Amino acid sequence: MKIDELKVLFSEEQIQKRIKELADEMNKLYKKEEVTAICVLKGAVMFAADLVKHLDMPIQMEFIRLSSYGAGTTTSGKVHAVDISLPDLNNKNVLIIEDIVDTGLTAKFLTDFINNNFKTKSTKFCSLLDKKISRVTDIEPDYFGFEIDNKFVVGYGLDFDGYFRNLRYIGYKN
Ligand code: IMP
Repeated sequence: MKIDELKVLFSEEQIQKRIKELADEMNKLYKKEEVTAICVLKGAVMFAADLVKHLDMPIQMEFIRLSSYGAGTTTSGKVHAVDISLPDLNNKNVLIIEDIVDTGLTAKFLTDFINNNFKTKSTKFCSLLDKKISRVTDIEPDYFGFEIDNKFVVGYGLDFDGYFRNLRYIGYKN
């Protein structure tokens, strides 16, 4: 995949506008209650960083690293925790921040992990993108930015073989 083969799916302006809308919804929901935001590395790094800037409650940020993808654009179908060390989340409002829900295996693994280990005050799952068509689990994000069809997308945190995370837009190969 080469950068000049990419078509823009969501521009920087569209992404930033939608993030602000999501944050406004969250600000209403949490009503200044403290939130622990968990950024799922590496893909959600840009989204999480931009989203939390618009949240107006006290926030603690945590970072975990999971991996499900094999080489290139194929999912391995198995999720493994590369680093899932977390503080005590009992009684906390937990907001998981992901880049994309595809099969839903990662989202399911994470919500199960948190619910099996902690009695949180609330657990919400937020994903910038939702590829509903590829779902193999019954997981639905509580919040999502944009629904997309079955395309492999890159940019704004999402990668192909480690590249393109730094793009300010989300694109796909034409
Ligand atoms: P799931 O477990 O199948 O839902 O996949 C979730 C993870 O797969 C995401 O966190 C991404 O890292 C990766 N992924 C899924 N679809 C894409 C894509 O279109 N582009 C880049 N990464 C993707």
